[in-house]
This record gives sequence, C-alpha cells and structure tokens, in this order.
Amino acid sequence: MVVPETPNKMYYPPSDLQRDAHVPNFHSYLEAYRKSTEDPEAFWRDVADDFFWKKPATGPMLQYNFDVTKGSIFVKCMEGAKSNVCYNVLDRHVKEKELGEKVAYYWEGNSPDQHTTITYSQLLIQVCRCANVLKQMGVKKGDRVSIYLPMIPELVYSMLACARIGAVHSVVFAGFSSESLCERVMDAQSVVLVTADAVYRGEKLINLKQIADEALEKCRGKTSSSVTKCLVVKHHARRTKGGAACSKLQTPWNMDRDVWWDEAIRGSPEDCEPEWMDAEDPLFILYTSGSTGKPKGVLHTGAGYLLYTSLTFKYVFDHRRDDVYWCTADIGWITGHSYITYGPLANGATSVLFEGIPVYPHVGRYWEIIEKYQVSKFYTAPTAIRLLMKFGREPLQKFDLSSLKIVGTVGEPINSEAWHWFHEEVGQGRCPVVDTFWQTETGGHVLTPLPAATPLKPGSATFPFFGVEPSILNEHGEELEGEAEGYLVFRRPWPGIMRTLYRNHERFENTYFKKFPGFYVTGDGCRRDKDGYYWITGRIDDMMNVSGHLMSSAEVEAALTEHSAVAEAAVVSRPHAVKGECLYCFVTLKDGGEFNPSLVAALKTAVRDKIGPIATPDFIQNAPALPKTRSGKIMRRILRQVARNDKDLGDLSTLADPQVVEILFSQRCETTA
Ligand code: WTA
Repeated sequence: MVVPETPNKMYYPPSDLQRDAHVPNFHSYLEAYRKSTEDPEAFWRDVADDFFWKKPATGPMLQYNFDVTKGSIFVKCMEGAKSNVCYNVLDRHVKEKELGEKVAYYWEGNSPDQHTTITYSQLLIQVCRCANVLKQMGVKKGDRVSIYLPMIPELVYSMLACARIGAVHSVVFAGFSSESLCERVMDAQSVVLVTADAVYRGEKLINLKQIADEALEKCRGKTSSSVTKCLVVKHHARRTKGGAACSKLQTPWNMDRDVWWDEAIRGSPEDCEPEWMDAEDPLFILYTSGSTGKPKGVLHTGAGYLLYTSLTFKYVFDHRRDDVYWCTADIGWITGHSYITYGPLANGATSVLFEGIPVYPHVGRYWEIIEKYQVSKFYTAPTAIRLLMKFGREPLQKFDLSSLKIVGTVGEPINSEAWHWFHEEVGQGRCPVVDTFWQTETGGHVLTPLPAATPLKPGSATFPFFGVEPSILNEHGEELEGEAEGYLVFRRPWPGIMRTLYRNHERFENTYFKKFPGFYVTGDGCRRDKDGYYWITGRIDDMMNVSGHLMSSAEVEAALTEHSAVAEAAVVSRPHAVKGECLYCFVTLKDGGEFNPSLVAALKTAVRDKIGPIATPDFIQNAPALPKTRSGKIMRRILRQVARNDKDLGDLSTLADPQVVEILFSQRCETTA
C-alpha cells in the first residue's frame, strides 16, 4: 500500500461550519478528548443519559481485560442495564420526541423512477409487523436470522425486527456467492433466512432467491440445515410491470419452507412489545474475512454499540436536525450497519438509502441523487471516488451540489489525488473531508477528523475519536513515542468494540490480543507524523483490500486450488488505479496441466462462484514453482514484488531456490486476466 505523501498544505475548517458545530474548534476537541480518556465513566454516562433504559446499569460504563496473560479477554458496557436498541432508534423518536412524521429514509431504487419515502412512524410499523412475522415463524430471543437482501427498505426492517425481539441478525452482503452464504448461515446456525426474489444491479438481473436456495441446499448437504423458514421479499416482481406474470423470472419455491414477505406481513399486527435485553446481549454478527480463509463472525452487543455508533455519527458528521445524510455503502458491510442503520436512526436523522450503482443509468447518478434530495452530508469510499474521477468534471457540472456541507470516506487509505478531487470538485473546496479509519471489529470510527475542529492533512485519518487510545508498537511490542511507524494498536476499549468472534472466543483472543498482550491489534500499519497525525499505511497481515473490501489470500487460494488442474496457488495484491488493490494470482499446475486462456477463464469463474464477483482476480500467472523458504513457507513478499515488477529484491538468503524468482519475473502478466 502506498503511503500518501505528506502534503505541505493543511485544510482548516470553514468558519460558517464552526459557528454552531457540536465540536466547534480544535481546542474543544482536545478538551473533550481529555475528559473522555481521563474519566471515561463520566463521559460515557453522559452519553447514555440520552437513551431509554428499562433498568439502569448496576456496573460501570466499561469493564475490561485486554491482557491475555491475565486471563480471558472481555469487554462489558453498562452491566445490569436493560434496554432495547430498536426501541431507542425508533420508538424513542416517535413517542418521546415527536419525530414520527420525520423522514427516516428516502429510498432510491436502482432505476431513478423507483423511489419511496419512509417516515419514522412508518418505519416503526413495518419493523413491528416484521418482528411479529419472525416470532410467528418461531424465532426467539437469542436465535440467529440470516439476511441476504439488496439495499431495499426490508433490509432495515428485518434488522430492526430482529433487534426488537432479541434475535441476532447476520446480514450477508447480497453480492456473495451461494457458497459464501452457506458458510455464513451454517456458522451462525440461523433459523430463518430473509431474502428477495431478484434484484437489478445496473442492467444485470441477479436471481437472489435461486442463490439462496443453492446455499440452503449446500448447507443441507453438509449438516442438517438449521434454517426452517425462508422469508422472501417480492422485490423484483413487485416492480416489474404486470407483476410476476410478465417477469421472465421464475422464482423457485419450496412450499414447506418459503413464505412471501408481503403475504406474511399483510395480517401482521402493527404493535410489538420490545424484548428488554441485557446491555451485553448480542445484537448482531457480521462476518469479515480472516487470514485462515474462514470468515470471522464478529459479534457486537446492544448497549455499547448503540452509544458508540450514535455518538460517532453525531460528531463525525456534525449532525443537524435538517440534514439529509447519504452513505453509499451497502448494509451488507459494517459501514452500512453503523452508518446507514443504527447511527443515523439513533440520532433521528434523515438518510438516503440507495439500491443502485454509481454509473447507472449514467455516470452522474451520485450527483443527481445529491441534488434530488439536497444531500448535506455525503459518505463514500475512495474506490468510488477514483471510479467517478475518471469521467472528469462534466457529469458533476450538470447537477447542483451546493447542499453539501461535509463529505467523508471510509474503507481504505485515500490517495492524495482522489482526496483533492473529492475536496475540490465534489465538496467544491467548501466541505471538510472526514477520512474515517475503522473496522468491522471496532464497530464505529476510531481515528477520524471532526469536521469543524480538525485541520486536515489529505490522506491522514488525523486523530482518535473520544475514548479511543491508539498506540504504535514496534516488532518487539514496545510503544513508540512521537514520530514513528509500526503496528497500530489500541490500549483500551470503547463501548462499540466487538466482544468476541461468534462461537470462537479462542480465535478472537489469538487474532487480536495475543501478539502484543495488553493491546487490541488492528492488523494495520500506521505512521504518526511530527504533528501527531495518524496515517494508515495498509494491512500488515495477509489481508488484501480490494475496492474497500477485505479479503484474505487464503480464501482466494482455496477457491483456486479446488480446480482439478491446480496443484498450488498463492495470491497477493498489486496496486490498481480504481480498486486501490487488485488480486494477482500465481498458480502451479499439476503434471500434464496446460496453462491457457480457457483455464484462466475457468479459474476466474471458480473464484467468483466460491466467493463472489468482488473477489474476481485481475491477474492469473502460471508459476512452475513458488518461491519458498527452506522450511517450505511461501515468500509472499517476493510474489508481491513480481506482481508489481519490482526487482529490488533485497535479502534472498532464506529462499530455497533463487531460480524460481527469475522464472516468475520472465512469465509475469502485464495485462489483466
Ligand atoms: C481499512 C471498514 C485507511 C483498514 C469500515 C482496516 C482504512 C480495514 C480506512 C477494515 C481509512 C478502513 N484509511 N484504511 N480511512 N478505513 N480501512 O472491516 O485496513 O471492512 O483494517 O471495515 O479497512 O475493513 P472493514
């Protein structure tokens, strides 16, 4: 990963934004930060006071052990308190704050002529109805529900319905393959799967129900499937002229298991008493790639996650009552969970919920939506910015972007060129860019500017959020002071950090806490400059970041080696102009195998089928042998250099057979597979 060069110029918050901002200047940030770390108890108690608690906490705001040498790792927030996250993000606004008529979401479909508006009262009713349907299907407190839906309102309804009845949702990104869905359903042992008939992504029709069926079939083949019911939203058929009859699509159906959402909801009561949950009861599981290849079920609990996503949303986007906020992420990722569903709703915000893609039906779609809904806060990913940058200024100039006040990015380091384009062309030089660093595991932003307070350096996520204490360690685990570069770790928890990996606490401890006892290890490299700004330098494990999506070498390698012609595979990343990084695969064939274009195509398909289109390799190279150490370990560093055509190889003394490297360089792929 390329470290963005330190620019000479700093960008100071505009004074009109500072006038009535929640955190109006750097001094007030420092003051509040000091309080949050010196007396976290008082700081977080204040935050909790804004929410509804059926029963107050009996324990402190935060209790924890981060040191494996002293016992099991744990974090607890507000032990003894009882509440319900759904109640806090919906009923509280409708009943206590009279926000019932306020718009919660402007839903904008894949096609611009499809849109609806959902108020807080309407949202509450839909959530209650769905909650009653789930209950009727036998879903009980603590049960897991997998949700495999596109970006439609039912996705939010079903998440919040789970939260309301104390079920644990596990949203699976609807771009994942049946294999990936099966793996996640099985690991979570979900009792219900919520999906849709089909969805258009741009011009491409994706038959979700068929993929879901294949996934459930695969689960059944492996064990007895835990899923007893499948709730199916009639999304495609509902929006096709003339309904399902005119749609070319046949939705496969299992009479014993499948239930149409519309039919189930129709008679379902509009009231549903929330289940009063313990503060530390699980709220959701969200799978993220792990370096062994098996996805990790990151588990978040109720109270702490609510406090943290709510507070970060309020401060990082300096939320105002009349804002229209838009986060372009998919809810299938953590960004959508925290900053489309929970954070904005906890603040009673109005958001855009967008189903489509940035370039359909035209490359100015994002800018059109900003104008249409008068979006004031806009949150997207560097990869989307780089994609749209390619089309130049013209698509932007057709639309009025003067409603924008703050723009933000997430998911990967932002290069200086993309930062400046975002700042100058999209934000028109007027909007601060909040470059937010965080992870599925952290639940919410951990390093981030505050828009009216923090002077910006393009490419730096700047400073820690309240209650967060970063540190940079060297290889020996020593904390480095001042200007330094090393492992980014955190010294203590904040309320929104994950609690465990679902049904695998040991993996949780090994992955995040074992390397440096006493610290949470992010897996990212980081540099602190002379002014104390933090710069993320990218992953320092075998994880690769493609278009802001993390994936592990191991999972892609597993997909490749499943092909009968492949003996061994190794996958690394190389820089890519739009995706940030892309996948470069080395495959060693079995004896007699022939490396040719049809094999390359078959391998690409194998990876897409196993993981999903986001993991499609850009390069596949024939590797008669892989560079290995004398003990047989693949030297990925060398493979990364071959992928990048970087011949400055440094120390090769541990390499078993130096000739291998020469051959690999001579057979490099220059063009994409
Ligand atoms: C990377 C996404 C640089 C990082 C919310 C992290 C970033 C991983 C940034 C988490 C940023 C995220 N600057 N790198 N602003 N934000 N990352 O779990 O490598 O999908 O560890 O969560 O993305 O990805 P995840």
